[in-house]
Amino acid sequence: MSTIKHNNVFPSELISFIEKWSKKQGNLIMILHRVQEEFGYVSRESADEVAYMLDFPLAKIYGVLSFYHFFKTTKPGDHNIQVCLGTACYLKGGDALVDEIQHLLGIGVNEVTADGKFSLEGVRCVGCCGLAPVLTVGGEVYGKVTKDQLPGIIAKFT
Ligand code: FES
Repeated sequence: MSTIKHNNVFPSELISFIEKWSKKQGNLIMILHRVQEEFGYVSRESADEVAYMLDFPLAKIYGVLSFYHFFKTTKPGDHNIQVCLGTACYLKGGDALVDEIQHLLGIGVNEVTADGKFSLEGVRCVGCCGLAPVLTVGGEVYGKVTKDQLPGIIAKFT
């Protein structure tokens, strides 16, 4: 049974997590991470609820959300395509993959297709540089990706 005040916006495990972290140092980032893990992004409603639960000013929460690029404040597509733009991937043409995906999906970086299916972002090293250039869709990793493979990869998710 939680003792922290809340508006029933979050599932109970998330409420318990926030309660557990509410008094700890550096808690805001941990909590926002957990919220993003739960919903895929931190909506205005979620930010409001975290502010309420922790008794933090909303501006402080948005300060953290905008400082760390990791956080998303808009809903990603059902399939979020992350193209690695870390050094190894960049040198092997990661940026050309971004260009081609933009062309294929008709969206820019950090945008979502009109049907809500796909979104595109550039990310830092995802930790498998030996497979450069790398992209991920959802949790799935694709390595040594060529532009020609992109329509096939996208088709798997349509
Ligand atoms: S630079 Fe892309 S996986 Fe490391």
